[in-house]
Amino acid sequence: MKNLSTLSLAALLAIPISSAGDAGVQLAQISDGFDPEARYMAACFACHGTGAAGAPRVGPGNAEEWAPRLAEKGLDAIVESTVTGIGTMPPKGLCFDCTPEELRAIVEFMLESSE
Ligand code: HEC
Repeated sequence: MKNLSTLSLAALLAIPISSAGDAGVQLAQISDGFDPEARYMAACFACHGTGAAGAPRVGPGNAEEWAPRLAEKGLDAIVESTVTGIGTMPPKGLCFDCTPEELRAIVEFMLESSE
């Protein structure tokens, strides 16, 4: 039992250490090898690929789902609402370790793939 609890403590301690590492990476704003498409598939597709929860859909022919948002608010504001969350979308979509710059790159990818 003693060994087990030592192990669990080690596992708990590992969490803040690894997130401190992530914070270091975030200073670089967009990390090397950041792949907007892969991040979109991992963190945004669940809602934006299907329109779940009323999410504007991404993919060829869906430009009209985005046009009113772009016309009304502009790119900066929709990136900002991605960072803070909007309606039923949680802050940062589901890309919790993305920087605002990385989220912007994903949003640009989403808009380009919806033309
Ligand atoms: C849990 C479902 C969900 C996930 C995951 C999700 N979104 Fe959304 N997203 C939504 C919904 C719903 C809306 C519409 C919200 C509204 O207008 O009330 C939305 C709206 C947006 C908008 C338009 C914001 C605006 O101001 O009009 C952008 C841009 C966006 N999402 C980007 C992303 C990105 C990038 C990701 C992944 C990192 C992501 N979303 C992940 C549900 C989701």
